[in-house]
Amino acid sequence: MKRTPIVLAHRGASANAPENTLAAFREGLAQGAHGVELDVHLTADGKLCVIHDHELGRTTTGSGRVHEKTMEQLKREDARGWFGTAFADERVPQLEEVLAVFPEGHLINIEIKSGPVRYPGIGRKVAEAIGDWKEKFRFIISSFDHQVLEEVHQTEPSLPLGLLFEARLYRLASYIQSLPYPVHAVHVWHHLVDRELVEEAHKCGLLVLTYTVDHEHDVARLAEAGVDGLISNGPGRVLSLLT
Ligand code: G3P
Ligand code: CA
Repeated sequence: MKRTPIVLAHRGASANAPENTLAAFREGLAQGAHGVELDVHLTADGKLCVIHDHELGRTTTGSGRVHEKTMEQLKREDARGWFGTAFADERVPQLEEVLAVFPEGHLINIEIKSGPVRYPGIGRKVAEAIGDWKEKFRFIISSFDHQVLEEVHQTEPSLPLGLLFEARLYRLASYIQSLPYPVHAVHVWHHLVDRELVEEAHKCGLLVLTYTVDHEHDVARLAEAGVDGLISNGPGRVLSLLT
């Protein structure tokens, strides 16, 4: 019998609060999400900050590139994005500030947005930053840059790793075997997910998480295909569709 997929709040409950802010993460919890997905970059002074884009312009009052700013410079900007004055105090959070929001046992999916070419040492820094929280939460560290996950693994071999895909990968088993680290999950763009892919991944011992799932027909189709997790901007709504 198929199990009901778990639901993760994508960039927090980003349909209802500004993405990747403390408000969105709290809203995800309030909506009953089982976990959260968030994006990390490295600032010019080596801090892990939680924001999606490489540039500030879309989601904050700032401009320019994240990796050229210090954490203190990022904090000066308002991160309410296109939301109203109720979110005027929101700022780009540091990873540790975000972790402090969640209760014990929460599933936290940290997506590393760029690997060592842009951010030398980011995999090691992520693994070190969450070292103190390892007992409190369940983590999955994911990236489209599969190279950076090796750095995470070398620093902290016990951390579960997820491969992000936005194109269909054939011969999954041989790809997984070719990697120098164990893989816990694949995180696949929902248009690429079908029952065949889920069965192939499950045969390899991998969980299948899929993003970004907000529409009713996708929720039903993906649950039927047997995915293990849905990553959604509106986790509360998705949870209500699953029951
Ligand atoms: O981690 C799943 C999903 O968040 C990947 O795409 O662009 O929303 O970070 P993006
Ligand atoms: Ca993401």
